[in-house]
Amino acid sequence: MTTLITGATGFIGRHLAAALTAQGNPVLALMRRPDRLQTLRRRIDDLGGDGKLLAGMAGDLDLPALGLQGEPPDINVVVHLGATFAWGLDPRAARRTNVDGALAVAELARRNGARLVMISGFMMENNAHLQRLGISPDDPDGADWRRVYTRAGAYEASKLEGALRVRAFANRHGMQLIEVQPATVAGHSVSGELDPAQPLFSLIDNLAHGRFAMVPGTPAHWLPLVSVDGLAALIAAAVLAQTVPERLLALDPDTPNLAGLLAGIAAELDRKPPTRHIPIALLAGLLKIPGMPRLMNTSAESLHFLQTTRFNTSVTAAFLEAQGLKWAPMEDSVRASAAYWRSHSQAQSAVAGEHLHLRRH
Ligand SMILES: NC(=O)c1ccc[n+]([C@@H]2O[C@H](COP(=O)([O-])OP(=O)(O)OC[C@H]3O[C@@H](n4cnc5c(N)ncnc54)[C@H](OP(=O)(O)O)[C@@H]3O)[C@@H](O)[C@H]2O)c1
Repeated sequence: MTTLITGATGFIGRHLAAALTAQGNPVLALMRRPDRLQTLRRRIDDLGGDGKLLAGMAGDLDLPALGLQGEPPDINVVVHLGATFAWGLDPRAARRTNVDGALAVAELARRNGARLVMISGFMMENNAHLQRLGISPDDPDGADWRRVYTRAGAYEASKLEGALRVRAFANRHGMQLIEVQPATVAGHSVSGELDPAQPLFSLIDNLAHGRFAMVPGTPAHWLPLVSVDGLAALIAAAVLAQTVPERLLALDPDTPNLAGLLAGIAAELDRKPPTRHIPIALLAGLLKIPGMPRLMNTSAESLHFLQTTRFNTSVTAAFLEAQGLKWAPMEDSVRASAAYWRSHSQAQSAVAGEHLHLRRH
């Protein structure tokens, strides 16, 4: 049984490819740069997987029909992780990759009669948020998407639109679709490995550099998290299990509130945690001032993910239990992520020092 993964070179994709190949399952990675297959194989070996079970196939979410050449590959499951993931994206570019690209992946799964495991995001289950944006989940055509892209930012809007349009496509064609909806991803629960491009890495970096003078929101605000290894194990189970719920909300309900999260990180980094709160609306206003996002190393778009909403995770909990899986305690993943940030920044400083030394001689 071969699983095609889009986004296998990304943070979650590498851990998923490692989890699947570690259990002896072949993986085919759709890659913009298939010449990087050997590098990816080594990274997957380093993560405890089996790089020999990984093959690559050239493809690009931005090209018509993914730019695939020749016969479609023989695959049983398609996991769609590939996406443009950043703040301040151009709406047209975000839409091309995250909406049109997702639909092209769904079409590939349909042609192969493959199960499609679509990775959306936990905001798909925040009904009040969807309502505020004017989105009715059963009617993607009814939303004023131009307005949604302006209000939510192009990344989040394109992820919501892509997921809803893929749901409608799968419904129309009677396909098997499983949607995994991850919270913000934390580092590995043991090694703490966390890609520097991840939002939690920036949050740790901001705290370490004193850019968090106050806690955004109120004591009820939290940033729901899931560890990357817990998420990879959940997606692997969604690939391999016979019976899987249609939607899996990948979110650890025991994630501490934002003040607790910042305190946990601060303790690991030997910093003083912020204790006073700043209203989200005020922070969002500050971030509209030119130069502020750069100074504060964040974007108003990222504030949407801080919230007071609590989610029903009972379906995922039952599936995890049936699969013999369990989330590792979130404090461990947070502590490990902060420790990883420290060793990563020390290594970066050592490299910078080495360059300076070489330049001086
Ligand atoms: N990380 C989170 O906190 C989080 C939370 C909720 C949902 N998600 C979703 O989970 C998925 C993976 O996230 P991640 O954190 O692993 O992202 P990531 O590290 O940024 O990886 C993105 C992946 O998408 C690929 N990609 C981007 N544009 C492409 C294109 N035009 N054609 C083919 N591949 C393309 C990248 O390939 P290249 O190597 O070629 O760039 C990379 O493999 C995304 O759909 C994201 O929206 C993430």
